Amino acid sequence: MLKGKDIIDASDLNKLDVEELLILAENIIENPREYADTCKGKLLGSLFFEPSTRTRLSFESAMLRLGGEIIGFSDPDSSSVQKGENLPDTIKTVASYTDLIVMRHPKEGAPRYAADSTDIPIINAGDGGHQHPTQTLTDLLTIKQAKGKIENFTIGLCGDLKFGRTVHSLIKAICQYEGIKFVLISPEELQIPEYIKGEILDKSKSEYREVERLEQVIEELDILYMTRVQKERFFNEADYVRLKDSYILDMEKLKNAKEDLTILHPLPRVNEISVEVDSDPRAWYFKQMRFGMFIRMALIMKILGEE
Ligand code: CP
Repeated sequence: MLKGKDIIDASDLNKLDVEELLILAENIIENPREYADTCKGKLLGSLFFEPSTRTRLSFESAMLRLGGEIIGFSDPDSSSVQKGENLPDTIKTVASYTDLIVMRHPKEGAPRYAADSTDIPIINAGDGGHQHPTQTLTDLLTIKQAKGKIENFTIGLCGDLKFGRTVHSLIKAICQYEGIKFVLISPEELQIPEYIKGEILDKSKSEYREVERLEQVIEELDILYMTRVQKERFFNEADYVRLKDSYILDMEKLKNAKEDLTILHPLPRVNEISVEVDSDPRAWYFKQMRFGMFIRMALIMKILGEE
């Protein structure tokens, strides 16, 4: 039961919750008009303390398409945060007007802290380099649409695996499915954090290996999940400049890839996928961002108990 629940971390959704959300999202894709008034009279608080295009606009579109309404900000400097108001007071304020809050924050743990200051549900729309659970739902819906199932794949996660919160959430969720093998492709400096290896991959007995070169493994992948090097999480500009173009997926690199490879990217991209790849049928990342709206419609409905 997701009604009234906070979604802070990928582990707040069990496999059954995810299955139900995927089924509902697929139903919404097929019959969007049937859901047009589902959240009439409900109000979503949309609080983005950090920039976003897809997550914010897909949540807001989702609520509007369900017949609900939205208040919030996309720039905290336009709110009383700029005057020094603390996070719990901001959350209490918005919670007194709304039924559900979606928030993104640069500090890891901020959504959990926010959830402790209110009784209305909080959805984490990304906290620092930590978690982005609704991107994971988006990724799982895209995999289901592309492959028809979520089991028995070799998935390559490529790029900034250290700071990439979408990767951390995705590993946590997808390791619950059978027969998933991970290939973790990154420069040494951007390898997956030890706690993900110890607490998630090792604990779930997932098969994984770490490599530095994409060319070395591309032919064995069923899914390739590209990520951006997270400039905003670096302490040092020189390190970012040195690492930012570590991986650029182009048609040359795809020459050895499977014909039914599914290429995903949470977006935004900077340089890591060449635009020539966009028209390849294996590129699913623009469909993926649209699926994000449908899965968020499903999540809002379930959390508000408006099925
Ligand atoms: N995927 C994602 O989180 O994109 P935005 O930063 O544009 O929301």
